[in-house]
Amino acid sequence: MADWISFFDKDHPIYVNDVHRRTHARLIARGILHYVSSPDAVVLDYGCGEALHAGAVAEHCGKLILCEAAPGLRADLAARYENDRKVSVLSPEQAALLPNASVDLIVLHSVAQYLTREELDAFLALFHRLLRPGGLLVLGDIVRPDVWAITDAGALLGLGAANGFFFAALGGLLRTLVSDYWRLRQQRGLTRYSEAAIRTMLDARGFSAERATYNIGHNQARMTFVARRREPAAPA
Ligand SMILES: C[S@@+](CC[C@H](N)C(=O)[O-])C[C@H]1O[C@@H](n2cnc3c(N)ncnc32)[C@H](O)[C@@H]1O
Repeated sequence: MADWISFFDKDHPIYVNDVHRRTHARLIARGILHYVSSPDAVVLDYGCGEALHAGAVAEHCGKLILCEAAPGLRADLAARYENDRKVSVLSPEQAALLPNASVDLIVLHSVAQYLTREELDAFLALFHRLLRPGGLLVLGDIVRPDVWAITDAGALLGLGAANGFFFAALGGLLRTLVSDYWRLRQQRGLTRYSEAAIRTMLDARGFSAERATYNIGHNQARMTFVARRREPAAPA
C-alpha cells in the first residue's frame, strides 16, 4: 500500500507552482531561525522534505543536519549540499546513530500528522536522547482534531492571495482533489492532537512544553510546540 514517505518522494501536487515552493521555503527558514539561539548551534531538521530553506538556515548556525526518510529526496539533498561543510544529509537510521546530547535544536515540522502516535512517541524518545540538556525540540504544524481540510484550503488560498499566486492555488486545490494526496488522506487520515494530548506526550518523554504564539509556516489553524529537554527523562 502506498505510504506518505513514497508520496513525498515523487513529484507531488502539494506545491501549486514555484512561487508557492519558494514562499513556503522562506517561511520555514524564518520559522526555524526564530529558534536558533547561537551561531554555533547544531540544528537537526527531521523530515526536512525538499529543504529549499536549508541554505538560509545553515548561514546562521554552526551545523545543519537534514534527515529525510524518502530516498529520492535524500539523494537530491545530498547532491545539493555535497560541497557545503555546514550541512549533512542523513537517513533516519543514520540520525538514530548520532551521539547522545549532541544537538541544540531539533525541528519536526509538518511531519507528526503523517506518523502514528506510536511513531511520534518513538521519535520523542530519540529526540530526548539526541538533545543536549536544555536543548529545544520544536514540533510544528500539529493538526488539531477540530480542524478540517477546508481550513487548510483557506490557508493556502490566503497564502496565494498574499504572494501573487491565488489562481494557481485555486487550480492546485482542484488538482489535489483528484490526486494521491487526497486518496491517502482519505484512506489513512492525518494524525491529529489536541493541545493537551501533545503536552502529555512531551511531558512523559521528559520535555517541558509551551505552545508557541505562531505556527511555523502559513497555516495558523495548526499549532507549534516548543519543548525544552528536562533532565532526567521520565522512564519509558
Ligand atoms: C509535508 S512534508 C514536510 C517537509 C518539511 N519539514 C517542510 O515543512 O517543508 C512531510 C515529511 O514527512 C516525512 N515523513 C512522512 N512519514 C514519515 C515517517 N513515517 N517517518 C519519517 N518521515 C516521514 C516525509 O518524508 C516528508 O519529508
